[in-house]
Amino acid sequence: MDNAKRGFLVLSLLAAAACGREADGYIFEDVPFSVIPQPASVTLGDGWFELTGADFYVDPAFGDAGVEVARGLADRLCEVSYLRSRVKVGTPRRPAVRLVSGTVTASPDSYRLTVDSTGVTVTASTRSGLLNAVQTLAQMLPASFFDRDTRGQRYRIPYAVIEDSPRFAYRGVLIDVGRHFYSAGEIKRCLDVMALYKVNRFHWHLSEDQGWRIEIKKYPRLTEVGSFRRETQVAHWRDSLDHREHRGFYTQDEIRDVVAYAGARGITVIPEIDLPGHMMSALAAYPELGCTGGPYEVATTWGVKPDVLCAGQEATFTFLEDVLTEVLDLFPSEYINIGGDECPKVRWKECPRCQARIRELGLADRDGHTAEQYLQSYVTNRIQKFLAARGRRIIGWEEILEGDLDEGATIMSWRGIEPGIRAAARGFDAIMAPNYYMYIDRYQTEEWDREPVSIGACLPVELLYSYEPCEGVAEGAEDHIIGVQANLWTEFIGSDDYLEYMLLPRLAALAEVQWEAVGARDWDRFRAALDHSAAIYEAMGYPYGKHVWGIAGMPGEEHPARTPEELEEYLKVRKGPWAMSYEEGKNLIIK
Ligand code: ACM
Ligand code: ZN
Repeated sequence: MDNAKRGFLVLSLLAAAACGREADGYIFEDVPFSVIPQPASVTLGDGWFELTGADFYVDPAFGDAGVEVARGLADRLCEVSYLRSRVKVGTPRRPAVRLVSGTVTASPDSYRLTVDSTGVTVTASTRSGLLNAVQTLAQMLPASFFDRDTRGQRYRIPYAVIEDSPRFAYRGVLIDVGRHFYSAGEIKRCLDVMALYKVNRFHWHLSEDQGWRIEIKKYPRLTEVGSFRRETQVAHWRDSLDHREHRGFYTQDEIRDVVAYAGARGITVIPEIDLPGHMMSALAAYPELGCTGGPYEVATTWGVKPDVLCAGQEATFTFLEDVLTEVLDLFPSEYINIGGDECPKVRWKECPRCQARIRELGLADRDGHTAEQYLQSYVTNRIQKFLAARGRRIIGWEEILEGDLDEGATIMSWRGIEPGIRAAARGFDAIMAPNYYMYIDRYQTEEWDREPVSIGACLPVELLYSYEPCEGVAEGAEDHIIGVQANLWTEFIGSDDYLEYMLLPRLAALAEVQWEAVGARDWDRFRAALDHSAAIYEAMGYPYGKHVWGIAGMPGEEHPARTPEELEEYLKVRKGPWAMSYEEGKNLIIK
């Protein structure tokens, strides 16, 4: 998608919220303080400092990283205003923007932002602290600052003392590029809004039954064969096929470029190679890696597939280690996500090689787990050891808790909160991504007829906002909940616009769940601040859900939202996933 501006139904509303003030003969546009996530402590003063034209001074302690952050903001301010800002290392003599090295809280993400008549002072101990301060500062400016066409504007910000630090160190978003492929440029657009909200982990789901998306030099067929599918299921029935091919993958150069782009915005990219299930695309390319030997096809329909990697043969481990070796070369992230979800055991039960491996390892049904579940633990633990020897740690979906899991693994809880609670109680770190609150592939409202087709169920921004990640976690185990993540699966998300629409504004609510201290969230304050975020989306050309503004549907297909009475009537007759009889819905996707 390019940056074309979109229709703006709520523009007049938002314009009314901002007000113009004249100073030094210039009319400044001032906005109410609307930073998302709301900083931990904000005190606004009486007065304004003009940012445009100010020089930047960087503490030499920051080295190149500080200069780079300062230059990013200074260049943008020059571009929008035509006023010159210089970036210098050292101590300023006149009002300026100063980046000063200092500790604010124990979190490397923390920062202090002080605005007074001497200028702006940003105090932080790390580059990510500086970047967070810059994001706060940017959101204090009018939305036009985010519009790449803006020129000749001057900006000022109110005197303020802001001290800020996040609740969780891991603040993630998953984008599934396996079910649908999005260009590297589109991924960068998503990274831009993640950075805006101080999200600091991008979980890149790169391999799926429906498509392999990362170039692996040693296994060229992964992309030659595995990145292509004949057709795609486009509704909730398996025979709703579009008869059009779908393809796409990232070259290693593109991956490096995206990783660097994310890094420059304070975001670590965590790749996921989902194993040993969700591997149909790899099996189609290398059928000898499956229990039956195939033939296999890159999946064209959704749901869990019975064919998985054969755990009984060494070739599988050679393949995985080779693939991961190239992955490690591309991704500096300490965490590597190895998937582990939805791995049916039907093939392993019948495969002589898998059964021989089970006997050789002395695995048996015990403690409520099957021998085949222990075989998956064997795969997980072996890959964990391989990665640990290379200085990396694994994250896996909650299913890796089944059987025996070696210590040091981190669990992502997705079928609810209970697996995360259980993992934390057992001493594993956990990231909470429960589907009920965090699966942003779900509809944004109950008005499914006014929305593009989605996986089903409903996750409005209000529900996501209400999530408390440590609820039910035993006292003393809270520190094992290291973060929260929203997952954007893409079965039905066949366009960039739709992807962004599903992300926004739920990403803003996610950011507050990830960042705000316990008890600090406030829906009314957040809802008011969302007006400014919406103006920023408009300025940057992102489609977004306008449900909290009383509008349903994607841009171009918008409708006034139903009244509560109309909704009640509609729900009585609604058809669709999870609203059908069993017979009607029995080949429905279950996620
Ligand atoms: C998942 O949603 N299968 C992790
Ligand atoms: Zn096998």
